[in-house]
Amino acid sequence: MNLDLLTAKLKKEKLLSEIIYFKEIESTNFYAKKNYLKDDTLILTSIQTRGKGRFSRIWQSSADKDLTLTLIKHFNLRIDESHLVNFYTSYILFYTLKKIFSENDKMQFSLKWPNDIMLNGKKVAGILSEVSNLKSSFKKFIIGIGINVNSISFSEEINSRATSLFKESKIEINAEELLISFIKNFYLKINLITDKNKLMKEWVKDSIVDGKEIQFKKFDDDLEIKAYAVGVDNDGALILRLKNGEEKKFYSGEIGLIV
Ligand code: BTN
Repeated sequence: MNLDLLTAKLKKEKLLSEIIYFKEIESTNFYAKKNYLKDDTLILTSIQTRGKGRFSRIWQSSADKDLTLTLIKHFNLRIDESHLVNFYTSYILFYTLKKIFSENDKMQFSLKWPNDIMLNGKKVAGILSEVSNLKSSFKKFIIGIGINVNSISFSEEINSRATSLFKESKIEINAEELLISFIKNFYLKINLITDKNKLMKEWVKDSIVDGKEIQFKKFDDDLEIKAYAVGVDNDGALILRLKNGEEKKFYSGEIGLIV
């Protein structure tokens, strides 16, 4: 990680209040939760020893090859609007990647409900955002982002479902430049978060599952079903048509693509 270049460029943009870098840390999200950090702080590490994924899974990444970071951002959102931060972040990351690779038609990016960024049908980045002060109207969001940038291999468990920018493009990607573009876009389009209808309209345009038969897992009540994905509504809910023809909305869970 070329920290000097990154810090110099990001400081020039005057978007962040602080950049905290660790050569190695347990988890940037965990650090953000345990410490008092100002708004617009970026926490960055070359490797996490216990990166957290959704549903308490481990987030794998390769030292000095991938991006693992957390951004602290306060938003004036109600509890029932908190999911917008995830949708906004995944949309911005998707948009940034699509723009960078706009001239490479082998790099097909899409979004998978709720917050995965997919590349050629495999997961290339994930988001785990947590809220630290639910009761306050101005909520502190701990937005954790993992991007598979230059990883060349994945564990057997996720190998068929995960990929990296390098694996698909065969080009070594400059992670610092990618991060700078993402941060710039994140602040540039930030008003989108207050326009739920517009944000969700943009998001669903590139959703990979709409109109497809999918596998759906809901962990809190051990539900695992095959269903037809009708779409994602403006509240971020996934609408599924079940085998009995009934349409149902889900606010959390995981989609498996049937190939
Ligand atoms: C997912 O399961 O899709 C979410 C993955 C989020 C991983 C990132 S990496 C940086 C930040 N710190 C963590 O421990 N997790 C998030």
